Amino acid sequence: MAAVKLMSHEDRADALEDYCIEQLDKAVAPPDDQQQQQAQYPTVAELDAQIETRNRRRGVGSIFVAGTGNVRKLPAMPSKPTLKDFFELRFQPATHVLQSATRALETGMTEEIILACLLHDVVQTLIKADHGWWGAQLFEPYVPEKTTFAIRYHQALRFYEDKEAGYEYPDLYKTMFGVDYTPPPYIQETYKTIRKHKWYMEPRLVTVNDLYAFDPNKRPTLDPFIDIIGRKFKQPKEGLGFDNSPVAHMWRTLINPDAPL
Ligand SMILES: [Fe+2]
Ligand SMILES: [Fe+2]
Repeated sequence: MAAVKLMSHEDRADALEDYCIEQLDKAVAPPDDQQQQQAQYPTVAELDAQIETRNRRRGVGSIFVAGTGNVRKLPAMPSKPTLKDFFELRFQPATHVLQSATRALETGMTEEIILACLLHDVVQTLIKADHGWWGAQLFEPYVPEKTTFAIRYHQALRFYEDKEAGYEYPDLYKTMFGVDYTPPPYIQETYKTIRKHKWYMEPRLVTVNDLYAFDPNKRPTLDPFIDIIGRKFKQPKEGLGFDNSPVAHMWRTLINPDAPL
């Protein structure tokens, strides 16, 4: 339940709707109960059977659906929006990525990694399915190559332990994907390739910081990262969405997800 409390409002609503409190309780149970719990995680087939019980698909971006009730009118954005504006007006509360970036900052990681941690999941506002690749694409024109690499491949590396680096397979994934889940071939292939890549540790460090067990008393803000953003994020002068970059439309969709076409 501690993990549930610390999720953002939307994530929590999603989690409650999708898996119900009981399952999440089991997912965070102490290790000595794990064997018994193992049987309690849903299977892939059980999760599959839930598809037609929803009026939306699980991969939809959080900006398009309300957790409960109706969606709210979004605050207007400035005509030349910056990354900071998106954090404040579209990605908020962004607790998960702020906590990840804070951990990266406090443990002395590079600015490329801190930035990757700060950005690694925000594309889930737009779309959740294959968010590593979508997220890397959204940021590619504006951030260092290592940051893009880390964002793109953290998704695949989340399925593979690296205890030496300090990363274990998350119990949350047993709940989300099913206890008997095997990643699809393209994820397996990606992992094999990235495991041997000279930049393997870039996405791996994103997964190491990618924790959901947060301190409820910490409310991290964007402030500690403003200087890093200034140094490492190429803010277009026309504003994100209006710079004619190959991904400008993705930012415009975030600005106005109410557009009917
Ligand atoms: Fe992620
Ligand atoms: Fe994450």
